[in-house]
Amino acid sequence: MQKNIGSVMGLYPTPVTVVGTVVEGRVNWLPVAHVGIVEHHTFMISVDKAHEFSNKGIQQNKTVSVSLVNQKMLQAADYCGIVKGADTDKSDMFKYHFGRVQGAPIIDEAPLSMECEILDMVKVGNFNNYIVKPVNTYVQEEYLNERGKVDYEKMSPVLFEFQNANYLSTGSVIGKCWNIGRDYKKN
Ligand SMILES: Cc1cc2nc3c(=O)[nH]c(=O)nc-3n(C[C@H](O)[C@H](O)[C@H](O)COP(=O)(O)O)c2cc1C
Repeated sequence: MQKNIGSVMGLYPTPVTVVGTVVEGRVNWLPVAHVGIVEHHTFMISVDKAHEFSNKGIQQNKTVSVSLVNQKMLQAADYCGIVKGADTDKSDMFKYHFGRVQGAPIIDEAPLSMECEILDMVKVGNFNNYIVKPVNTYVQEEYLNERGKVDYEKMSPVLFEFQNANYLSTGSVIGKCWNIGRDYKKN
């Protein structure tokens, strides 16, 4: 039997990302797990207005990097989500380099990192929801399959859920999309 637990956000788990910015000439890392695809080539990152330091960099540069996180990076990523860039220099938390987009530092060890342009911003409550477009996506070669596609089972990006404030790992492939339904037998 289902129980109504009220007006509770149930849309978890979501991927953990680290958003890279350059603020006042310094690289800053902001973990963001409230993310979502809004169109095939566009997604949203939801950033609390209270994160004034990161917001400043995002709005000035109109670019960011968005990286997925693996278990090796998780402790450093979590630390970046505890301390504030305005008070603490987080630039050395990850080794990084710049690719083709200014203001979008790429984490060397990230399993996947996207250099993104900010297309728009939608304010909802206390959050600036940035609509971003990846212009270059860098993937560790070991996570690319023979067809040049990302193998998310191998990559196993870390997931997040807010109800219990937990990190989760992804599982294994359980079926083929637009395929397993073909054999469904209606009663
Ligand atoms: C796993 C995780 C997920 C987070 N997701 C978000 C998020 O989606 N949006 C947000 O505004 N803050 C999120 N935060 C909080 C910020 O990352 C955190 O407050 C950070 O220290 C702000 O950094 P800054 O002051 O350098 O901008 C998250 C933190 C963690 C640890």
